[in-house]
Amino acid sequence: MTAKPTQLRIALISLHGLIRGHEPELGRDADTGGQVKYVLELARELGRREQVERVDLITRQIVDPRVGPEYAQVEESIGPKARIIRLPFGPRRYLRKEALWPYLELFVDQCLMHFRRYGIPHVLHGHYADAGYAGAQLARLLQIPYVFTGHSLGRVKRERLMVAKESDPQTLEHTYQFSARNEAEEISLETASLVITSTSQEVKDQYEKYEHYQPDRMEVIPPGVELGAFRPPDADGPAPPIAERLEPFLRDPSKPIILAVARPDSRKNFETLVEVYGGSKKLRELANLVLVMGQRDDLRELSAGGRRVLLNVLTLIDVHDLYGQVAYPKSHQSGDISELYRWAAKLRGVFINPALTEPFGLTLLESGASGLPVIATADGGPVDIIGNCQNGLLVDPLDHSAMEHALLRMLTEPESWDTWAHNGVEGVTRHYSWQHHVDRYLRDVGEIVEESAASPWEDRRQPRRLPDFDRLIICDLDNTLEGDDQALQEFIEMLQDAGRNVGFGIATGRRLDDVMEWLERRNMPRPDVLATAVGTELYYGKDLRPDFGWKRQISAYWRPDEIRKVLDPLPGFTRQEDHEQTEFKVSYQIDPELAPPVQRIRRLLREAGLRVKVIFSLGMFLDIVPIRAGSDLSIRYLAYRWGFEPEQLLIAGDSGNDEGMLKGRTLGVVVGNYSPELEKLRKSPRVYFAEGHHARGILEGIEYYNFLGNVRIPNDSAE
Ligand code: GLC
Ligand code: MG
Repeated sequence: MTAKPTQLRIALISLHGLIRGHEPELGRDADTGGQVKYVLELARELGRREQVERVDLITRQIVDPRVGPEYAQVEESIGPKARIIRLPFGPRRYLRKEALWPYLELFVDQCLMHFRRYGIPHVLHGHYADAGYAGAQLARLLQIPYVFTGHSLGRVKRERLMVAKESDPQTLEHTYQFSARNEAEEISLETASLVITSTSQEVKDQYEKYEHYQPDRMEVIPPGVELGAFRPPDADGPAPPIAERLEPFLRDPSKPIILAVARPDSRKNFETLVEVYGGSKKLRELANLVLVMGQRDDLRELSAGGRRVLLNVLTLIDVHDLYGQVAYPKSHQSGDISELYRWAAKLRGVFINPALTEPFGLTLLESGASGLPVIATADGGPVDIIGNCQNGLLVDPLDHSAMEHALLRMLTEPESWDTWAHNGVEGVTRHYSWQHHVDRYLRDVGEIVEESAASPWEDRRQPRRLPDFDRLIICDLDNTLEGDDQALQEFIEMLQDAGRNVGFGIATGRRLDDVMEWLERRNMPRPDVLATAVGTELYYGKDLRPDFGWKRQISAYWRPDEIRKVLDPLPGFTRQEDHEQTEFKVSYQIDPELAPPVQRIRRLLREAGLRVKVIFSLGMFLDIVPIRAGSDLSIRYLAYRWGFEPEQLLIAGDSGNDEGMLKGRTLGVVVGNYSPELEKLRKSPRVYFAEGHHARGILEGIEYYNFLGNVRIPNDSAE
């Protein structure tokens, strides 16, 4: 084992959108929102720390005239010890995040090559479901600690869209790829030793919807917010321009202000606030109400939802006859909002956020930093903000009298008002800065790294025990090599003619002795590499030397007895013969008519706290293997260990237990007699669907890629 690192190498992975250090293009489309800013600021602040050796923010390389040339740059420095690394995967053009799913395995391979060249980080941190999945694959392989931040969660979004009933489930699935996202989030959560969230509500109400919900692995570390423009008022400055804009509305503009700022959206609950104010004689005496409901030129041109809110508010103003007491300015300039908070603080007013639910609550922080006390909904992020800063009161957004009471307290208790105002200014800088975030980040991440061994992959001194092949053909056995004796004979001859630079391997669900018997019966040459029992065992060379490192790598979390306890009683499940049960593989034959669907089987195992892989083949075999095993990871391990680039590997298979190794940057061949569970690989690049069956299909694939000559990859250009 290597000594503990004194300084951390951190890799942040954030794959979608557009990320650049200089003037990030925020809000350009739906994929360039807060997450871009979050990862950039996190990377920069980490880079400033002494405990950090280097931080790489890894994202996708985009070569597309529709976006700037900087997104094609492989490396961009964004501060001391911090840089953006852009790796190409899939099409070169800009893609929205929902279109990235088929290419993530390509990214995993690219990233492995990057780490091989530049060193393996001590910790990986995936952001959002896409990078969450890719990062989890990498962390499992490299055996390094993994941190995950969801940013937003598929299940929550799906539920919200279902409630809104704007489209049917199929259309939603098609547009948003929820099932891929959901599985990616589960895998991320399953792998992560630390999940960082921004609010405690995310932990309680959002992550809770997942099968891998482990609140003890979750830490609420709020992001830093840039609050440069927000500061308390000077003792004697002139009234700002925005104050003049309120004057036409108000009979006595010198009264304290009850201020609300939000988009005109029904969830923001402006109507309740107007009702409460309108219904309270006391409040109307003590203060004016100022509502900043977004910007509008012509209210008739607002979206239907926005118009509805505005008309409701205007109606309530009329019903309660609030003329001269409520201001609702049409438009404001960018600096106006910070001026307005300060002005309201100067008049000893109150900021109120009565939203039905508030995911984070940036306006509360802005108000706090301005020295303006807040009243906010007790649903969502405000609970944390007010808990941390003690700068105001929480209310149930539907409880009218509680809201009235809280407002009255703020307007009539000057000493408490002073304390709240002071606490806001203090607390916001203390709790909501990137410095504070990174203090906690490094403490938590440091602990995890401390507890885990260095990646065994870091040791590159391993002797090369394979002959110097420059390419390797790896085939599945049943239904791929096996099935057409004539074609198999041709395949063997092809291998014999191919020369010493071409290696041959078998990757199969069968166990070693079975494979050996099969080979002998057919007078086959011994393969150079063998992956048996669904990628749980690896052997090299003519003397079949076992790879003990691989065994150690996959043995984590493996509890076969408990797996059997969960699966044995299921309907349609029959254990395969004892002979088929190997050290790291539990196998069943299942009757698909009676057995629950695979997704449900996965869920049962997860709910039992088991971290495993479930692999379904030929519509009837079900293998459970360790979470770090499987053909995808075993072949990647092999390639990394022996120094093969993915393009030097041609992989052929027919069924579910081959799926993992067929994805990615290796050259995949699916033989013509493939089983339906591989149909989904049609979406994967670098998978060639041969016409020929069995070994005939392999030969066809070798031809397709010209694998014995100057390799070409026709399916790459099909992008
Ligand atoms: C082979 C194995 C069997 C496994 C199946 C699918 O047939 O012998 O145990 O379930 O492959 O991987
Ligand atoms: Mg097979």
